[in-house]
Amino acid sequence: MKRREFLTWVGIGGLATYLPVALAACSPQKTELPLTVSATNSEGYQSIGTLDQLTEKGQLLSKELAIGSVLVIQKPDNPQEVIAVNPSCPHAGCSVNWKADQNAFICPCHDSKFAADGQLLEGPAEEPLKRYEAKLEGKTILVKAG
Ligand code: FES
Repeated sequence: MKRREFLTWVGIGGLATYLPVALAACSPQKTELPLTVSATNSEGYQSIGTLDQLTEKGQLLSKELAIGSVLVIQKPDNPQEVIAVNPSCPHAGCSVNWKADQNAFICPCHDSKFAADGQLLEGPAEEPLKRYEAKLEGKTILVKAG
């Protein structure tokens, strides 16, 4: 094998080895769980995950329900119950996050603050978060999707 052929062969091998790693490093990180949303049951509820997933992550976000995005948390005073809200802030539409240490949903854009039940605590938002019916069936989290 000639020197030039050898260097070409090594270069292609190195590229094949490192390209997938480089592409993986450059891809955006997922902040959401890969939740599997089930079909709507006869009562209009859809499963968006399990209590174990919720306990591990502190909040579950699904964007795949027919009603749009849904953010689910455990009820602070009773972790065996769940609360589901539309995470879209009524001020300008940023997505709120649950902050357990503050016992509130906080909007990252202009710091509006909402109680666990979605009620407005501090503006500039002027309306509460929209609530959805949610319940646990065993360890499965169900949200009313319509
Ligand atoms: S968008 Fe949430 S406070 Fe402005």
